[in-house]
Amino acid sequence: MDTILVKTKQHNYPIIIGFNIFNTPYLFSNFKYGDQAMIITNKKIFALYFKQLFDILQNIGIKIDYIILPDGEKYKTLITMNIIYSSLLKKLHSRDTTLISLGGGVIGDITGFAASSYQRGVKLIQIPTTLLSQVDASIGGKTAVNHNLGKNMIGSFYQPNSVIINLNYLYTLSKREFSSGMAEVIKYSIIFDDIFFSWLEKNIDKLLNLDKSSINYCVYKCCKFKSKIICEDENEKNKRALLNLGHTYGHAIESETNYNGTWLHGEAISVGIVMACITSEKLNLFTKHDTLRIINLLKKCNLPVKNPKFMNTEKYLKYMFLDKKVHNNKIHLIIPIKIGKVIISNNINKDIISDSIK
Ligand code: GLY
Repeated sequence: MDTILVKTKQHNYPIIIGFNIFNTPYLFSNFKYGDQAMIITNKKIFALYFKQLFDILQNIGIKIDYIILPDGEKYKTLITMNIIYSSLLKKLHSRDTTLISLGGGVIGDITGFAASSYQRGVKLIQIPTTLLSQVDASIGGKTAVNHNLGKNMIGSFYQPNSVIINLNYLYTLSKREFSSGMAEVIKYSIIFDDIFFSWLEKNIDKLLNLDKSSINYCVYKCCKFKSKIICEDENEKNKRALLNLGHTYGHAIESETNYNGTWLHGEAISVGIVMACITSEKLNLFTKHDTLRIINLLKKCNLPVKNPKFMNTEKYLKYMFLDKKVHNNKIHLIIPIKIGKVIISNNINKDIISDSIK
């Protein structure tokens, strides 16, 4: 079992990573913040993993209630939030309660926002169940729900009190979900570490075959990258924005499909990363050779690397404008300048974007 300490202004908290960590009886005693907790999960995860967690928490004297939410980005709304508040109030959860998120990124975002706002803030434990939420969404305190006029428009920075990553959960993910998480893993290597990128190139088959030690190393490494950047820039005033590599193009694809699940987040980010590489090539800041290495690695993970037919320059620009990524006709974008280093470019011309898309 590995532990990483995340140091933030709000508070410090541990990320615990390992296989079979729920077999360690004392683990949760360290994270018992009171006598009452509410687990928020979805139907699929409830059927698979709820009972094990429920038994452990009950055995250490915590009274557990739970809420099962429907799965999907479209339920990340204030209506769902109200269901949670009502349930907490009806079941007399006080300010000393703990909210426990048991699920992927959607459940984590909703539970995080509920924890940050219920009675002006209660304790929060993130137990992420997908690769994407284990390496990214559960760490760093971004919480949100969507508004009709935009994704994640209502939310807060609210750091969890602990993040518990049970690697066994990855073994019941669909191949497609696992690959979607791999897009974020590859993203970290392009932003931070060419040696890790080369490691991924060498070990990608092992990872896709869920080799235990490769999985453990990979998730640990990504959590390290993420926690380091959170310690340096908790509220995304500067460096944390680097984590958005591929996200400007990627969010445009997701927005165009109305987040209906035809494109998973990682799939859209995969295309977005390739487009950021090509944009950087057009600016003579990145080599074709490195773009091809990245494309090959993404393809090995069965991730899409081509601009979807339904997207064109006008559509990308429309979402970039909505996302406030454009000022005085210049576009802000995270672009790689070599594998292991990215920059925030603040003055990319629209024509370069059009060329990259074409
Ligand atoms: N997912 C990017 C971030 O947490 O900043």
